[in-house]
Amino acid sequence: MSEVQIVPTENGPYKVTGAIQLVDQEGNTIEAPGQTIFLCRCGGSTNKPFCDGTHSKIGFDGASAAVAEAEGGS
Ligand code: FES
Repeated sequence: MSEVQIVPTENGPYKVTGAIQLVDQEGNTIEAPGQTIFLCRCGGSTNKPFCDGTHSKIGFDGASAAVAEAEGGS
């Protein structure tokens, strides 16, 4: 098993487990609250990059299966 695991939760955030370094766009470290964090993937959190539970209020519907290959093309 990998030292870091990222799991998309059902219609919710990414659950990230393991020792990671989380940084913003400028490379500044964002303090993680622990070795397991939940990263917003619905875009609605007011505490980005962390999930604040908004996904359940807005009815976020997220696919949890990885896409094996890009679909079609434009
Ligand atoms: S995934 Fe939870 S607030 Fe966005």
